[in-house]
Amino acid sequence: MSNDLNVFFKPKSIAVVGASKDSQKIGHAALKNILISDYECNLYPINPHEKTILGVPCYKNLNDVKKSIDLVLISVPAKIVPAIMRDCVKKQVKNIIIISSGFSEIGNHALEEEIANIIKGKNIRVLGPNTMGYKNASDGLDASFVFGVPRKGNLSLISQSGALGIGMIYLANNEFVGVSKIIGVGNKLDIDDDDLIDYFSQDDDTKVIGLYIEAVKNGRQFMNSIKACNKPVLVVKAGRSGAGARATASHTGSMAGSDRIYSAAIKQAGGIRCRDVVELFDMARALAGQPHLRGNRIGIITNGGGLGILLTDACEANGLSVPKLSKKTAARIDEILPDLVKPNNPADLVADAGFYRYEKAASIMLEDPEIDGIIMASVHGGYARPREFTGAILKMIREKKLHETHQKPILGTWVGGKEFEDLVFDLKSAGVPIYPSSWRTARSMMALYLEGQRIQKEQKMG
Ligand code: COA
Repeated sequence: MSNDLNVFFKPKSIAVVGASKDSQKIGHAALKNILISDYECNLYPINPHEKTILGVPCYKNLNDVKKSIDLVLISVPAKIVPAIMRDCVKKQVKNIIIISSGFSEIGNHALEEEIANIIKGKNIRVLGPNTMGYKNASDGLDASFVFGVPRKGNLSLISQSGALGIGMIYLANNEFVGVSKIIGVGNKLDIDDDDLIDYFSQDDDTKVIGLYIEAVKNGRQFMNSIKACNKPVLVVKAGRSGAGARATASHTGSMAGSDRIYSAAIKQAGGIRCRDVVELFDMARALAGQPHLRGNRIGIITNGGGLGILLTDACEANGLSVPKLSKKTAARIDEILPDLVKPNNPADLVADAGFYRYEKAASIMLEDPEIDGIIMASVHGGYARPREFTGAILKMIREKKLHETHQKPILGTWVGGKEFEDLVFDLKSAGVPIYPSSWRTARSMMALYLEGQRIQKEQKMG
């Protein structure tokens, strides 16, 4: 279809059909969200019984609006939706969001088909039915009925589950992961995951794409979109287990499909499969702010031997390698170590390591051509200096010149309690990828490696 979703995400005029004065109703929340958005557009509440809603002049139906309408949000009971869709066609509306539930997700396929027939061949894009709508944080528009304002950033999220989509907004905020757009695809009558991947692939505000899916309608198209996408695509695919697949069928009425086939296809297309939404945000934070890995050789710097080993195991389990240090790098690190320890990878800087040892070891590893990426780790043992550790990471990551010269990612790992958490809070708010677990760190590093592989493949194919 030629309707490319640009107007869908940046409409100049919006109508809300089913807008209500009743603050408990979804049509009220949808209108209010648009009204309080930091976004300029003409807004038309549609309700046959009201003159104004929330101070905005109200219209009895869409055709009473004399100006053109770019986007219509529908929040009336399902059985009325076909009539509203016909009004949209008459009014030449090209973009529609059907919030209403009561379609194929409850087995009412006939009603969904009726809508599909109404828009057939009309170059109209429809989101839903059974969707929360979308939030476009980059442009300030909230075209959804749900609460929660995402921090502005460059992760665009597509969710097949409305509730999980809402939860992800809060989680993203908590994790300081900035969002460009978040969209609930609902029953995917028309606008599907592949359309959105294609759009976000061209969207300047999007750097990373994340999806929560239970099933895809057109597997080939979905994989082709991931393959053609010039940005990292992170996929949480639910229904891995037999019981999960059963739950999928009763949630959105879709078939989870063979999990092994999904995994292989996503991998082959160049997407990255995440185990859950927390992992998606972990990886998104690394991908949005760090260079990708050019190779899989990781240098680990720690103040605790145990944490170093856990990180090594987690890296190796995720397709990364933790090689022995070259003679030159070992000699340089030896110079900054206390006498009792030998330089290795993981490089144990000893429990009392402070700013100088961390910063120096990281700089040495950055300069080593046999190391592709660095993990800086700290465990809050008796002599540890968390403030100096976090200071060293921040300095290394903030030194733009270092990044530009070496093009190597740096991730952080910490193990500790409240004092450490407070310091890490500042790092996360500054966009530093730092994780409270060796496994989460290694998985995020793996995502940077897979992104490097994807880019290499893309470059080879010209
Ligand atoms: N044009 C415009 N407005 C109309 C209308 C028409 N043809 N016919 C009725 N309305 C008005 C109603 O009068 C009402 O306004 P009022 O409060 O002033 O009376 C408003 O539209 C809403 O209709 P109502 O019958 O009160 O429905 P509702 O608000 O209780 O429920 C939905 C409507 C869509 C919210 C509900 O059917 C639904 O699907 N809920 C689930 C939504 C959901 O969860 N989606 C997925 C999220 S992930």
